[in-house]
Amino acid sequence: MADYDSPTDIEPQDAEPVSNPCSMSLTTSLKSSVLNYEYENGRRYGGAGQSKYFIPADEDESNRLDLCAHMFSLLMHGELHLAPIGPDPHRILDVGTGTGLWAMDMAEKYPSATVLGTDIAAVQPSFVPPNVEFEINDANEDWGFSAPFDFVHARYLGGAIRDWPKFVGQAYKYAKPGAWVEFMDFTMTFYTTHGAFRPGCAVDRWTEELKAALIDFGLEPEPGSKLGGWVNDAGFQNVSVKKIALPVGLWPKDRTLKEVGTINLIQFLDNLEAFSLRPMTARGWSVERINEFLREVRRDFKDPTFQMQHDGFIVYGQRPME
Ligand SMILES: C[S@@+](CC[C@H](N)C(=O)[O-])C[C@H]1O[C@@H](n2cnc3c(N)ncnc32)[C@H](O)[C@@H]1O
Repeated sequence: MADYDSPTDIEPQDAEPVSNPCSMSLTTSLKSSVLNYEYENGRRYGGAGQSKYFIPADEDESNRLDLCAHMFSLLMHGELHLAPIGPDPHRILDVGTGTGLWAMDMAEKYPSATVLGTDIAAVQPSFVPPNVEFEINDANEDWGFSAPFDFVHARYLGGAIRDWPKFVGQAYKYAKPGAWVEFMDFTMTFYTTHGAFRPGCAVDRWTEELKAALIDFGLEPEPGSKLGGWVNDAGFQNVSVKKIALPVGLWPKDRTLKEVGTINLIQFLDNLEAFSLRPMTARGWSVERINEFLREVRRDFKDPTFQMQHDGFIVYGQRPME
């Protein structure tokens, strides 16, 4: 059975007063994979082929991911993982590694290990520690690695994975007996405990539109809350599910949460168009109409009375010894 930690809800007294309410299992060399980019509406997307991701793979997105990595580190109190993997793992896998920061940090923390980061987009740096490798590999296909791992990690893959039970099953297959897996993911749905945010406002309609588009694409938009069930069903033991609330905005009083909320707000505001273009044009929106709508969405994000938050989940489990 999973051990469910209590949610770290942000209480009303934790909000600062508002002073100014305004309102293919394809493994190839990184070089040849570069040819796989596609361009749409002036943005570059990775992974032409079986899997297409909804967010661009370009410099702006790499900057956003690096900012998010800092936000996750704050949420994790500086830890890179919660699973008790021991001091000397040998093989570590990071699926959907993005810019590869987590993989490189793990390689530094565990010099005993070789860390493999996989992704459909070649946005990883070329100069990396000697115990880090990056590989182009579609996580929706059969993984086909030559050897199992001591630790399998996947963070922030909402909107990327087609069949999560199969995905978690592959993590099981490629974990050594006794090895750990860890997943971190989110819900896109915003809510408030004591602010002025209401379902039906522009930002809420925006997330509903994105979720509908991802479902049309055959992708799971909000894996976070379902991870615990999938990890249990795959046969892992010693499963732990930790739920955390991520604020959006500067409203929390707590210093760390204020920094998390500030980064979260910036990464949304700076990337609204990037998140929206592919999903919303697929649902028939013109670029002009998207940008007009995003002006309203932006206003909601900036409204300090809204006190919005959404949920993150960190789930780990251990493959039984056989
Ligand atoms: C939001 S980013 C998260 C990156 C990284 N895990 C992190 O936490 O910074 C999602 C990543 O998944 C990658 N991705 C999308 N679809 C994928 C697939 N089918 N297989 C492997 N990676 C995929 C994207 O290219 C992107 O780098």
